[in-house]
Amino acid sequence: MSQKDNQIKWTLITGACGGLGSAFTKSVLNEGSNVVITGTNAEKTQKFVDSLKKEYQNLQILSFIMDLSDEKSIVALIDYIKTNNINIDKLINNAGLIVEGGFLELSEEKLLNAIRINCLGTVALTRKVLDNFDVREILTVSSLGGFYPMPYMSIYASTKSLLEKLMVALRQELKPRGVKVSVVCPGGIPTTPAMKDAIASQGFGGRITAKSPEFIANYALKKLKKNKAVIIPGFANRFVRFISRFVSEKTLAKSVGKMWGKANKKRKIK
Ligand SMILES: NC(=O)c1ccc[n+]([C@@H]2O[C@H](COP(=O)([O-])OP(=O)(O)OC[C@H]3O[C@@H](n4cnc5c(N)ncnc54)[C@H](OP(=O)(O)O)[C@@H]3O)[C@@H](O)[C@H]2O)c1
Repeated sequence: MSQKDNQIKWTLITGACGGLGSAFTKSVLNEGSNVVITGTNAEKTQKFVDSLKKEYQNLQILSFIMDLSDEKSIVALIDYIKTNNINIDKLINNAGLIVEGGFLELSEEKLLNAIRINCLGTVALTRKVLDNFDVREILTVSSLGGFYPMPYMSIYASTKSLLEKLMVALRQELKPRGVKVSVVCPGGIPTTPAMKDAIASQGFGGRITAKSPEFIANYALKKLKKNKAVIIPGFANRFVRFISRFVSEKTLAKSVGKMWGKANKKRKIK
């Protein structure tokens, strides 16, 4: 283990009470890091903090209620961390809004909110963390969908595409500062009822590409340590990504559109 790895003391995790976020939080605590976690709901977050405090009595767990779509809320989070005299060593940009459905079926507010949370909020937080702390590692959750044009999930996939491109570029810019930057692009994760349903509706394909939140979190953190640029958990997902490099975007959009269109029909999603 390098000296820098030994110095890691505090990790900031957004969306920590969610399916993948809670797995990240536990993995990071298991690594021996203290955490600052964010949630959107005070009661749910406090319940999660209480359960963590019972399990990890030797580590510090701080929480903050924030909304990534609100700039003031992000500023307040940074102020809270600074007031506590904490340096954030590792940032995990996990929070995200999963938006399913056709572009014309979703409300304009929902479309814009996905961009506000997944893109604007994540960019603003990453920038503020870099400006205010000596951060050594940044891990951002994108999606396998971020590599493709995805009809019926177009806005979500596009927001994740921005994150993937941004993080690979930022990694290069931050090399002189010695900051590790990785982006993880998971396939399906059975976290929310909607995602469980989406995975099931894809039959065999859904089953072999889906991975548990615990697997994704542990795998991504292991690869972040090794400074891997783009992390794709699961062999089937890496294979899909490899093959898709030889297919045009137009053809990909057609076949992904067919697949999601069919799955959404089964699930009665327009
Ligand atoms: N599930 C999948 O199949 C899948 C696949 C690839 C990538 N991902 C990505 O994995 C990440 C975690 O998703 P998940 O599957 O664990 O779903 P989830 O349980 O719904 O988690 C999403 C998290 O984002 C937080 N969040 C939502 N809106 C927010 C806002 N305005 N401000 C701050 N936080 C907000 C939520 O916080 P609260 O719980 O406090 O409301 C929640 O903890 C997301 O970035 C998602 O895009 C998921």
